[in-house]
Amino acid sequence: MSELNTVAVKILENGKGILAADESTSTMTKRLNDVGVESNPKNRLLFREILFSSSSMTKCIGGVILYDETIRQETSKKNKIPELISKMGSTPGIKVDTGAKVLAGSPKEKITEGLDGLRDRLKEYYRLGAKFTKWRGVYIIDENFPSKLSIHSNAHALARYSSLVQECNMVPIVEPEVLMDGEHSAEDCYKKTSEVIQKCFDELILHKVDLTGIILKPNMILAGKNSKKKISNEEVAKLTLKCLKDSVPPEVPGIAFLSGGQSEFEATENLNLINKFNDTNFIMTYSYGRALQQSALKFWSKNIQNIEGTQKVFNHRAKMNTLAAQGKWSKDLEI
Ligand code: 13P
Repeated sequence: MSELNTVAVKILENGKGILAADESTSTMTKRLNDVGVESNPKNRLLFREILFSSSSMTKCIGGVILYDETIRQETSKKNKIPELISKMGSTPGIKVDTGAKVLAGSPKEKITEGLDGLRDRLKEYYRLGAKFTKWRGVYIIDENFPSKLSIHSNAHALARYSSLVQECNMVPIVEPEVLMDGEHSAEDCYKKTSEVIQKCFDELILHKVDLTGIILKPNMILAGKNSKKKISNEEVAKLTLKCLKDSVPPEVPGIAFLSGGQSEFEATENLNLINKFNDTNFIMTYSYGRALQQSALKFWSKNIQNIEGTQKVFNHRAKMNTLAAQGKWSKDLEI
């Protein structure tokens, strides 16, 4: 197997998952302000260093996605952040897109930017210690959305990005996120997500991306946040598996879901059921941002010097998700 496949599998195997700590400065500022903490480089680093030095980094977290600011920061012990992550037994990664902007021709939709100059930025990130990368394409659902234009242009960008990342010896996370916002049914989410993922793979193949050396990061199949027709967690798991089985080529080693606005509990429960029913060869795990950090952030905000307490909250969430990634989680393990 290729070197990139080895890296991808190491990040995801044995129930390990990914901590998405790559919130941009503006998103992180919103998260910190929501819990009453001032957003400045020192506080952003303090919270993240607490997570990156917790014991679950060794046992549960196979990879961490960083933001540009963080990959350049030093810990309180004067180590570079990627060094700390590697020392803990995990793998450092980096978000490399520069955000979703209004899509010309369909202004309600977005296209992710960041391709210009990407090769040079990737070389720098590799030198700074990154072994994998992330790029997120984002799609809205409505009667008329996502449009063919959005599906095509985002798939094209994801493929050009992936090809450049592999050229620079890193594993690309391919993240096409069909948003939960809206009134759509789970059936609509299933249809649109399938179309989006299939188009991504058409483009990845056209751009000669080695599919054994990528990680797919999709949304689960859920009814819209404001849908009147909710479905059970079992149905979420079954529809998600059906969608991925029909749309993802078998060479892909692993799938790491985003949480996308689900509660921590819901994201764990759904992942657990997906793994209980998983009859594919794909590793199915987590690459959560909010669903791994929410409780820890809330706890930390009450006393930002309480490192141990915050780590305890984070370790619990990471452990629950690692059990779910093996289909071994149950409600009574929650505290
Ligand atoms: P959430 O799990 O909070 O959706 O974040 C994952 C992510 O990396 C979004 O790009």
